[in-house]
Amino acid sequence: QPEEYLLAIESSCDETAAAVITRDMKILSNIVSSQTDLHEKFGGVVPEIASRAHLERILPVIDDALQKANLSLDQLTAIAVATEPGLVGSLLIGLTAAKTLAMVLDIPLVAVNHIEGHLFACQMQETNPIFPAIGLVVSGGHTNLYHCLPTFEFELIGATIDDAAGEAFDKVAKILGLPYPGGPSIEQTAVKGNPQAFPFPRTFLKDPELRFSFSGLKTAVLYAALGNPGAKKQPPPLTAERIADLAASFQETVVDVLVGKCQQALMQFRHSTLCVGGGVAANTLLRERLTEMTNKAGIHLSMAPPDLCTDNAAMAAIAWHHLDQGRIASLDLDVTPGLVR
Ligand code: KG4
Ligand code: ZN
Repeated sequence: QPEEYLLAIESSCDETAAAVITRDMKILSNIVSSQTDLHEKFGGVVPEIASRAHLERILPVIDDALQKANLSLDQLTAIAVATEPGLVGSLLIGLTAAKTLAMVLDIPLVAVNHIEGHLFACQMQETNPIFPAIGLVVSGGHTNLYHCLPTFEFELIGATIDDAAGEAFDKVAKILGLPYPGGPSIEQTAVKGNPQAFPFPRTFLKDPELRFSFSGLKTAVLYAALGNPGAKKQPPPLTAERIADLAASFQETVVDVLVGKCQQALMQFRHSTLCVGGGVAANTLLRERLTEMTNKAGIHLSMAPPDLCTDNAAMAAIAWHHLDQGRIASLDLDVTPGLVR
């Protein structure tokens, strides 16, 4: 039987990405063109700039992915594209490219949910099925806990009521004058700091409900760094040492909460597997603490390597499963920018 090849396209936020994945989940190429340099000076993603950059980059990125995989277009079996959730203008660029290729090549088009892709990235690294499991997606837009079923259905069992964890990293970096994106820059700065210097609030850590809140933490860092407008006493100047302590204390707090909530969900659902995806899952401290916690509890931890945690197209290989189920999209497929679940 000849090998089958999936071309996957991802453009939901500020990464233009394409990948080629075989039926047995071998990643032949995984190209990510990051727009960080374009959004850096704004401290966050500017949607109009993002969609324009996707438009310029999508074809070269697809070409690159095919070239690295040593394939031509006519060898492809199917096209997958992330259609939800994300920025509408960004999603539309990937979708239009995917539709055009599917139509011209006359091969199946498969729609993929970006969040499900983040969880599926964990399965891609494993030989045995990892579901049922508790899944955590921690990214710039989401902090969600899922009950992952062996049928590749994902039931939302917990979420943030305000900011996402990655969003908190980005906003705190801005407060501390550290470069965007905040995750990597806070992680680097935190190495030199004392994680116990500031006892920031671990919101909902002891709450019986599976929910998160990071907006109070962000405000606590703001007041500790730059002062509370209502207070008489203002904090000392923001030296490099204080910045490092604030970054380390903030990171420690987020990691404590994320690990604690995963543990709570695992106990509540009596699952013995935890999978974690999304950009924040690239964080070294989070990876270490999750490893410690799951080792102690006898839980199997499934985490994709850092480059498959941050946005990429390879994770859209969940499309092979959709294809097996006959879930082929028609050419009037549309994007779903907001979260429907
Ligand atoms: O999954 P992702 O690449 O895009 C979204 O779907 O949002 O996640 C991006 C988020 C950003 O907020 C970024 O600051 C965060 O992931 N991030 C990190 C690290 N690398 C990226 N957060 C903490 N530590 C990191 N090493
Ligand atoms: Zn993502």
